[in-house]
Amino acid sequence: MPSSDHILHFYQGSNTDLKSATTEELILALQRKDLELRTIIHGAGAILSKTSFAESARTIFDECCKAIGTTSGYVALLSEDGSENELLFLEDGGAECAVNPDLPMPIRGLRADAYHGNCAVYCNDFMGSEWVKYMPSGHMDLRNVMFSPLVIEGKTVGIMGMANKNGDFNDRDAEIATVFGELAAIALQNGRLIDAQQQAYERLKKNQKFMLQQEKMASIGQLAAGVAHEINNPISFVKSNLQALGKHLDKIHNYITEQRRALHEAGVLNSTDSPVCDETKLDFLLTDSREIISESLEGIERTSTIVRNLKTFSRADQGIPEAADINDCIASALTIVANEIKYRATLTCTLADNLPPVNCCRQQIEQVLVNLLINAVHAIDKENGHILVTTQADGSTIKITVTDNGTGIQAAILPRIFEPFFTTKEVGKGTGLGLSISYELIQNHGGHIQVTSEVGQGTQVTVTLPHTATNTTHSPSSGLFVTNGHE
Ligand SMILES: Nc1ncnc2c1ncn2[C@@H]1O[C@H](COP(=O)(O)OP(=O)(O)OP(=O)(O)O)[C@@H](O)[C@H]1O
Ligand SMILES: [Mg+2]
Repeated sequence: MPSSDHILHFYQGSNTDLKSATTEELILALQRKDLELRTIIHGAGAILSKTSFAESARTIFDECCKAIGTTSGYVALLSEDGSENELLFLEDGGAECAVNPDLPMPIRGLRADAYHGNCAVYCNDFMGSEWVKYMPSGHMDLRNVMFSPLVIEGKTVGIMGMANKNGDFNDRDAEIATVFGELAAIALQNGRLIDAQQQAYERLKKNQKFMLQQEKMASIGQLAAGVAHEINNPISFVKSNLQALGKHLDKIHNYITEQRRALHEAGVLNSTDSPVCDETKLDFLLTDSREIISESLEGIERTSTIVRNLKTFSRADQGIPEAADINDCIASALTIVANEIKYRATLTCTLADNLPPVNCCRQQIEQVLVNLLINAVHAIDKENGHILVTTQADGSTIKITVTDNGTGIQAAILPRIFEPFFTTKEVGKGTGLGLSISYELIQNHGGHIQVTSEVGQGTQVTVTLPHTATNTTHSPSSGLFVTNGHE
């Protein structure tokens, strides 16, 4: 129990005896009750009409002040460690107060009594009380003070403070403040529920967009795998047939040369040149056929590379991390978008040799690269479009950059580009998921994505990933930096 009983009042609940009141006193009491009731209804309405606890707490506090007749006070919540009041808002009621509201508000003095007793307390001679020593210098004078706790499940989780009532606080005020404290506690619980609901909704939205993109990539992967499989067989036999044809051609060539030499030795021909050969341009046909076979084999080799990359891209073990060469991932991703790039931009790759491997889900990193490359292509709206892809390693990370000389991104929308469903592209062209998914995937790998851009100049996206030579553990919160202008 507090030591200063003579000035401290704990609200115990009271009923004013109206039996001996005059008619005038009764009318006044009724009017007062009416005001109290209306303010309480207003306060209760705030719980439903306001979307945040801060908003409803402000209305509840204002209505409570109106009902009690105070002008200054605050609403605060108990800090997580239970040692301090965390101020939600402070109303000085027009009085001068030079104290910084951001200063800590330890739970002590009269406040502590409200916290520990779970009930309203008031003091009508605060400046003469023992607690005045806790007031920092510059604090406005507090003639009287009342605290009403916000109690949730029997525990005080916050407090509503009021001061400088014109006249003394009394038990009726404490009764009213208790009701408002209860309303504030309901508002707080409500706010927490709404927050939890909002968080659950955000999580759901995040999962949904993730699954959507995964599905999109899975169908591309499936398609790619199907195409790769279908193409693989015919190109294998075309390749071996062409190689056989080359060998046959060599044999035919040797045979013809031998025939000519024999005819020449037999005196049938004057030289190893034959008029029949000249007429049919046999030498040209032989040389040209060799070139045709070698060019076709080159084409087959290129097709095989595309098929190999398609297979890598569509691999089913997408969730299993492996030590991957980032340059290979870039090659794979480029195969997928090669056609899109070809008609709109030139491509330069400056890839570092001997990159340390990155422990990653290859398919996911390739997915990020495809997203970045497609964004770069889509940004190019002029001739001389150019995309540069680079890789480099330092002691702990690998940096991949994708730079384009496209439209650039306006400063106003730069902070929004990682938002799910944010797109500036026309309907049907972009879902606005590419960067948000990329951000998610890179963050899951302990890396981060940084974007710098200048309107009219272009955009550079830098992906940083920890490599396997790194011993440091990554922080899952490392993630997104969006800056404006080139670094
Ligand atoms: N390289 C870039 N140059 C210019 N703007 C870009 C670039 N990359 C991203 N943006 C902007 O960021 C927005 C969001 O990109 P994001 O990849 O998330 O979605 P999207 O490309 O619109 O659609 P999709 O889901 O098909 O990828 C784009 O609509 C575009 O306005
Ligand atoms: Mg995109």
